[in-house]
Amino acid sequence: MPEPKYRAAMEQGKTSKKSFCYTNKCSVLTFLLVIAGIAVAVLVTLFVKSVRGPATKEKAGLQWWQKDIIYQVYPRSFQDSDGNGIGDLNGIRNRLYYFNDIGVGIVWLSPFYKSPMKDFGYDVSNYTAVDSIFGTMKDFEALMKDAKQKGLKVIVDFVPNHCSDEHPWFKQSKHDFNGTKYRDYFIWSKGVNESGQRVPPNNWQSVFGGSAWTLDNVSGEYYYHQFTPNQPDLNFRNKDVLNEIDNVFRFWLNKGVDGFRIDAIPHLFEVKNLSWNENINVNKSWQENAGRHIYTRDLDEIYGVVRRWRKVLDEFRQDDGSEKFLVLETSDLTKEMRDKYYAAGGVPFFFELLGVQKSCNVTCLEDIIKRGTLGLPSGGWPNFVIGNHDQRRIAERWGEEFVNAWNMLLLTLPGTPTTYYGEEIGMTGMNYTQNETVDPAALQSNNMSQSRDPERSPMQWSNASQAGFTTGSAPWLKVNPDYLTINVAKQNASDSSILSIYKLLAKLRTRSAFQNKDITFTRVTDDILSFTRGDKSDKYLVVINFGSNSATTNFAQLKFESATVEVSTNNAIYNVGSLVNLTSLTLSSAQGLVLKIK
Ligand code: NOJ
Repeated sequence: MPEPKYRAAMEQGKTSKKSFCYTNKCSVLTFLLVIAGIAVAVLVTLFVKSVRGPATKEKAGLQWWQKDIIYQVYPRSFQDSDGNGIGDLNGIRNRLYYFNDIGVGIVWLSPFYKSPMKDFGYDVSNYTAVDSIFGTMKDFEALMKDAKQKGLKVIVDFVPNHCSDEHPWFKQSKHDFNGTKYRDYFIWSKGVNESGQRVPPNNWQSVFGGSAWTLDNVSGEYYYHQFTPNQPDLNFRNKDVLNEIDNVFRFWLNKGVDGFRIDAIPHLFEVKNLSWNENINVNKSWQENAGRHIYTRDLDEIYGVVRRWRKVLDEFRQDDGSEKFLVLETSDLTKEMRDKYYAAGGVPFFFELLGVQKSCNVTCLEDIIKRGTLGLPSGGWPNFVIGNHDQRRIAERWGEEFVNAWNMLLLTLPGTPTTYYGEEIGMTGMNYTQNETVDPAALQSNNMSQSRDPERSPMQWSNASQAGFTTGSAPWLKVNPDYLTINVAKQNASDSSILSIYKLLAKLRTRSAFQNKDITFTRVTDDILSFTRGDKSDKYLVVINFGSNSATTNFAQLKFESATVEVSTNNAIYNVGSLVNLTSLTLSSAQGLVLKIK
C-alpha cells in the first residue's frame, strides 16, 4: 500500500485526467498518441540496434569461449574408424556425443592437415587439405555439421611458424636460384667460412636438439628450422607469406571453424642479422639454455602479426556479436608479453600449471593462480591448462590419486579451462621402450626423457580389444595395458569414478558463480588450497589438499559454520549433499571438496 500522501497525489491525478478527457475527441486523440508512442518506441529500438551493432549485445555478456571447457583431441590417438590403427576424423565424429555427455563445449583438434608426419602433423605440406590418414575434406565437413547440430564449437590447430620440407613452397624455394618469389618464403644463409669449411651462420639451436640450420644440398645453402630439419621456418617479414597465411585462415573460417590454436607463436621471428650468436652453451639442450634465446624468440614483431590475424578473424564475426577465438601457444610469458598478446586480440595460453611438479606446494600453486588471474589487462580473460600433447599426464606428474584434485582445481578456477583428452578418466603415462619410441623430440635429441609418446597413447574407451580405440591390431602407439581398469565405459558405470566427478564439476561450473574472473583465497593451512567463487547470492568454497598428509582446517574467517557438499573427490568420506563442519574440516591427502555456503 503506498504512503497516504502519495495516494492523495494519485487521486488528484485521476481527477485532472478525467476533466481533460471529457469529450469523444479525447479518445481519438488518446488513440493517436498511443499509436505514435508505439511507433516512436519501435523506431528508437531499431535505431539503437543499428548504431550499436549486434556486437554490443554479446559484449555485455561473455563470449562463447569464455563460458565453456576446451577439450583437446589429438586426432591420431582419439578414435580410429577404419581399423588402420590411427585415429581419424570419422572416429571423432562418431564420438561427438561424448563431448555433450561429459559437459565440454569446445573441441580443439590438433593438426589433421596433409603432412609427411615427421612431427605427427605439425609439419604441414598442404594447409588447406586433410591428410588421407585422417580422412577427406568431406569427412571434415560432416564432422563440422554434426558438431554444430550438437551445439559444439570446433577450434583447429594452426601451424604458421614452419611448414613441411615437402610443402610446394619449400620445394620451389630450394630450386629458386634466381631469387624469385619463393626463395624469400624461408630463411636462407650461405653460412660462413671457418678455416676453409662452410658452417652455419650462427649458433642458434633447434628446440629438439642440435643446430637450427641444415644444409640443403640442392641450393647449397643453409635453411633455418626451429624444430626438426623437416620443418623449415617461414619468413614472416615476407608480404606474400603473410597473405598466404591470411588466406589459410579464411579457408578454414569459410568451413565454419570457430577459432584457432596457434602453434609455436614465440618463434615467429628471428633477428635479421644472422651473424649474431646467442649467449648459449651449445653442448647443452635448448631447454637448458632457456632464457638465453634472445635472438630467436619473443621478438616484438609477433604482436603486429597477431593483430593482423585478429582482423582476418573479425571479418567472420557473427551477426549476434560472437567472435572467432584466437588462442596462442605461448610459453615463459612475462606480464608484459601477456598484456601485449591480449592487446593484439589473442588469448595467450597460461601454461604455468602445466609443468607443475609435486614439489610445488600450496604457496607456490596459489602464486601461480594469482599470476593467472590478477592484474589482467582490460579485455584479458584467465585460462588454465593442466595437460597437453607435449607434457606428461597429471597421473604421471602427481600420481593417480591426485587426478580428481587436479580436475577439481582446473574446473573451479576462473576463466576458460582446457582438458587434454583422457585426463577426465585419469589416463596414465604409458611406458614405451626406446625401440617403440616414435616422437621426433626424443629421437632428434637422443634423449628418451624428452619423449612425448607417453601422453599420446590411444584413448581408453572400454575394456574391449585395443581399449575400443581401433578394430585393427596395431595402433600407431601401443594401448596402455591399464585400459582394463581405466576406461570410459567402466567409469560411466560408477558414480564415484574420475569421469563421474569430472561430469559433476563440468555441470557445476556452468553456474554464474563460476562464470566470471573473480576468486578470493581463503588460505588456512600449508597443505590445503582453498578459495571461494561467487557472491553472497550463490557462493562456493573450494578446498583441496595438495599435501601428502591429512590436514584439519578451520574456516572461521568465513563466518559460516557449515556448508553443503556439491562435489567430492571421495564420496565414501564426504557424500554429495551432506553437511560439513567448517570450523573443523579434515581432508586427507589429494582429497577435495566444492562446498556450497548458504
Ligand atoms: C608445439 C607443438 O605443441 C608441438 O607438439 C610441436 O612439436 C611443435 N610446436 C612444433 O610444431
